[in-house]
Amino acid sequence: MTAKTWLITGAGRGFGHEIARAALEAGDQVIATARNPEQIEAALPGHEDHLLAVRLDVTDSVSAADAAQAGLERFGRIDVLVNNAGYGQAGAFEELTPQLIDRQFQTNVFGTFNVTRAVLPAMRAQRSGHILNISSLLGVVGTDWWSVYCATKFAVAGWSEALSKELGSFGIRVTSVHPGQFSTDFLDPSSLGMTDLRIDDYRSLDAERRDFVSGRNHDQPGDPQKFAAAILTLASLEQPPVRWAAGSDALASFQGRAAQLQDSAAQWHELSSSTDSAAQTK
Ligand SMILES: NC(=O)c1ccc[n+]([C@@H]2O[C@H](COP(=O)([O-])OP(=O)(O)OC[C@H]3O[C@@H](n4cnc5c(N)ncnc54)[C@H](OP(=O)(O)O)[C@@H]3O)[C@@H](O)[C@H]2O)c1
Repeated sequence: MTAKTWLITGAGRGFGHEIARAALEAGDQVIATARNPEQIEAALPGHEDHLLAVRLDVTDSVSAADAAQAGLERFGRIDVLVNNAGYGQAGAFEELTPQLIDRQFQTNVFGTFNVTRAVLPAMRAQRSGHILNISSLLGVVGTDWWSVYCATKFAVAGWSEALSKELGSFGIRVTSVHPGQFSTDFLDPSSLGMTDLRIDDYRSLDAERRDFVSGRNHDQPGDPQKFAAAILTLASLEQPPVRWAAGSDALASFQGRAAQLQDSAAQWHELSSSTDSAAQTK
């Protein structure tokens, strides 16, 4: 199998770090990007020939273009883009300020767009490539206290599905990846966004969720190294899935959502089809 070149965002820790390490260990070349690239060089010693560590804050479209350019100058191509950088903004919708919501979308959604925009011209010219967008289980199932994070991850999933159709004829594949709960820094105060704004009506929901988060931090059931190994498998496929569940919890959420849609379609069939124009129903 010929070696691939990867560009990975948020590669300083968590999933991004594990995917970068797995790709390097498989003999691939990696443009590993992070807000602090020194973090990457320290964490992945001994791979200098195949590793380019580049500064990239995904919210900055200029830094995205510069990182892609630096990678192309060094390795000549980008075969796999992993849009991984992101974080969770927790809290009831009414407790989140517009600034917190804006930052969440700038990172998880517009950041993903920035990096993809920077990489696509090279993939189109190659007539090949695979873009893996890290969405979430919460990009399939809406959950209270996570509504804004869910909105970003649903956005990533819907955009990925449409993009897979738009880019298919250029030989570029797109997969939205939906992890369940994995033991990274995701629930850690170093990553998770919280809010100080408290509304009395949400007090018990907030207390319950905060307890869950502090009890589960770094004790989630998913193994990030096994996740990275699965990402390498997906990247090796001729026809990768358009959406993929990572972990048994995510798998159950796919199945639950499919059953819910079936039930809803059956229960509301008559009312749903009643809105077609007369010409359509003939
Ligand atoms: N772990 C889970 O349970 C889980 C489940 C579903 C989805 N996810 C998704 O998986 C992705 C990776 O998260 P993780 O679990 O690996 O969590 P993590 O350990 O907290 O890592 C998050 C990574 O995103 C980077 N990042 C955040 N904002 C950035 C920005 N503006 N520009 C560049 N990098 C930025 C962080 O960089 P710094 O080091 O500079 O902060 C860090 O490398 C996220 O998109 C997350 O939503 C995680």
